[in-house]
Amino acid sequence: MDRFRVSGGGPLAGEVAVVGAKNSALKLMAAALLAVGRTTLTKVPDIVDVAVMAELLRRLGCGVEHDPATGTVTIDVPSELGHRADYELVRAMRASISVLGPLTVRCGIADVAIPGGDAIGSRGLDLHADGLTRLGANVHVDHGYLVAQAPNGLVGAPISLDFPSVGATENVLMAAVLARGTTVIENAAREPEIVDLATMLVRMGAEIEGIGSSTMVITGVTALAPVEHEVVGDRIAAGTWIFAAALTRGDVTVRGFDPRHLGFVLDKLVDAGVVIDRQDDGVRVTCPRRPRAVDVMTLPYPGFPTDLQPFALVFDALAEGSAMVTENLFEARFHTASELARLGADVRVDGHHALLRGRERLSAAPVVGSDIRAAAALVLAGLAADGVTTVEGVKHVDRGYPSFDADLRGLGADVRRESVADGAF
Ligand code: EPZ
Repeated sequence: MDRFRVSGGGPLAGEVAVVGAKNSALKLMAAALLAVGRTTLTKVPDIVDVAVMAELLRRLGCGVEHDPATGTVTIDVPSELGHRADYELVRAMRASISVLGPLTVRCGIADVAIPGGDAIGSRGLDLHADGLTRLGANVHVDHGYLVAQAPNGLVGAPISLDFPSVGATENVLMAAVLARGTTVIENAAREPEIVDLATMLVRMGAEIEGIGSSTMVITGVTALAPVEHEVVGDRIAAGTWIFAAALTRGDVTVRGFDPRHLGFVLDKLVDAGVVIDRQDDGVRVTCPRRPRAVDVMTLPYPGFPTDLQPFALVFDALAEGSAMVTENLFEARFHTASELARLGADVRVDGHHALLRGRERLSAAPVVGSDIRAAAALVLAGLAADGVTTVEGVKHVDRGYPSFDADLRGLGADVRRESVADGAF
């Protein structure tokens, strides 16, 4: 088992660049299924999840080449596709569910293993199933698979989502672009990754209005064409580096993303006393003195992203004063809090609220990161702790960050990977 070995240290300094967003690249790869021929994606992150999605597409009959050196993925989609996304792959990566919409509309049938819950919550699929049902598919569960059948094709319809789910919006959108007639999605998710997906679909020939708003109107077309598309910069990876700079009181420039995609987060940090210089393709973050603790409440975009919640916990655990962090999207996303307590943080969790009283420094200990963002946040906490912290969960981090520890070392951190026999400390 691999783990990170983190030596507490001083302020981070320097420049770091992010590449394309994991949470867009995976969906763009699924969207390639909608058009026969070669789709080319650039700025694709070299992460485990991209490799899993590539394997999933290969098993559906596509030719997939991924060149990590150039960040390019080419996907050759045949006219005849398989329609089963098997459990082994879906279990490894929930985002596999995003082939459901494309396969249903392209093949008239899709069977995708149900991923089940994970470390952050139960993660239902009812909104995905409701949406496809409204488009005329027969959706049911069969031996652990979600099966959607539409032998006569899909028909556009008005769909109002109970919650602006990212995944459900994406699946319904990708199905509706080739459905007959018009679909209206009310209460659609508005994340930049959704805008990136819709933008690529329009370039493939789809007709979509209201991109980026909570109401999207899709007029189905009969066919789409493959394109070349650059993945939008990763705002969550950028947010990770921004919090790293702030909570170590460093001076870091983060490039490769659009600061407007993190507007709410940057405003919060400015409220806390962090200095943020916004530039076209990034930000410079400086934190000359101990920041003030700030209340944070996670919300769908453009609110504070749930994927940065674990970093806000670490930030408030070290800031001046006390604050409340409220998690509104995932009911079990406070693993980081209990591990932070092991590092000496003053944190109390009550349901979906965490109350933190800031401490000047934390004290090192062995901790466990239960998912991508929790493990990354605990490494940052280790940077602000006296002594050597070990963080289990490297495999999670590799799912979402192409070069996490190397980038941290580039900013002056002492973070290394080490392999240890299972159970050894
Ligand atoms: C996407 O997950 C991201 N994953 C998540 O990032 C992110 O946290 C989440 O959006 C919210 O921003 C990818 O894009 C691969 P949702 P998704 O559907 O699509 C409930 C990371 O760290 N819900 O918007 O699964 C659900 O249980 C990951 O990169 C239903 O109840 O998120 C959750 O409570 C973690 N029924 C809420 O909605 C449904 O059918 C939001 O889920 C669908 C969702």
